[in-house]
Amino acid sequence: MKTIAVIGAGTMGNGIAHTFAQSGFTVKLIDISEKSLEKGMATIASNLDRMVAKGTITEADKHQTIGNIITYTDIKDGLVGTDLVVEAATENVNLKLNIFKQLSELCDHNVILATNTSSISITQIAAQVVHPERVIGMHFMNPVPIMKLVEIIRGYSTSDEVTQLIMDLSKKLNKIPVEVNDYPGFVANRILMPMINEAICALYEGVAGVEEIDTVMKLGMAHPMGPLQLADFIGLDVCLAILRVLHEGFGNPKYAPCPLLVNMVTAGKKGVKSGEGFYSWSHGTKELIVSSNFNKLP
Ligand SMILES: NC(=O)c1ccc[n+]([C@@H]2O[C@H](COP(=O)([O-])OP(=O)(O)OC[C@H]3O[C@@H](n4cnc5c(N)ncnc54)[C@H](O)[C@@H]3O)[C@@H](O)[C@H]2O)c1
Repeated sequence: MKTIAVIGAGTMGNGIAHTFAQSGFTVKLIDISEKSLEKGMATIASNLDRMVAKGTITEADKHQTIGNIITYTDIKDGLVGTDLVVEAATENVNLKLNIFKQLSELCDHNVILATNTSSISITQIAAQVVHPERVIGMHFMNPVPIMKLVEIIRGYSTSDEVTQLIMDLSKKLNKIPVEVNDYPGFVANRILMPMINEAICALYEGVAGVEEIDTVMKLGMAHPMGPLQLADFIGLDVCLAILRVLHEGFGNPKYAPCPLLVNMVTAGKKGVKSGEGFYSWSHGTKELIVSSNFNKLP
């Protein structure tokens, strides 16, 4: 495998492109939005700058990595000559089903089709594709260049051969792959999202404020960041979409998203990517400033 197409240049897509490019692959980064591509490339450049400043990579490595990435707004152009597609577009079932229908038409039948979905059924996505045995979940964690885990999700029809190839490829990226089966939320989000939702419910019910909830989890459970801060980093729209998949997939009310989360996403407060969520991020991500909506105890 030499050439990888990454679909979506948002939070995850640019990190996935960065990671493959830094490992020497040619990356075709595809997004419907020119603005997302520009923002994605700027994020990759500033993350590489940080690595140069820390001495993890050289200035030459940085230029080589950026030089390995080509951007496209036209999916047809971007898919030419690719060996593997990693889809990292917005977490929306119909959008992903449409993308995979297109991939099935545009790619050769031997191209492996991976999705970075956080929760949507790999089996359902694979059902859109001729030769569904080549469809697999490749669930990277945020921030991709730093986080070691890749959750590898086998759909109902995913072949052993494709699973092995993707496990080996993940190791080449210096990641640690873990194989899991295809049920709603897989493992990572089936466990993480109910915790985040519960933290939002605790805030909604006035049990404690944003800072207090996050501090309890950081200092009490040794989590590196609190669940509300983590939700802001993941994207509140992404959290809501995952909870809806869990709720619908298991038919269990325990996964129902907290009304506060629904309201925040409806109001456009999506966390870091929109500049505000439980915290205000307009000044950057270093300092924790509770959003003015929550800066008093309820
Ligand atoms: N954010 C996280 O922490 C995280 C972690 C793991 C997995 N994921 C998953 O990764 C995927 C992407 O999430 P994100 O947080 O990067 O979202 P995002 O909103 O930051 O970016 C999504 C990008 O997809 C683009 N897009 C939408 N439709 C497209 C199309 N038809 N073709 C090409 N590009 C299209 C958008 O323009 C946008 O740039 C989702 O499936 C999400 O569940 C997210």
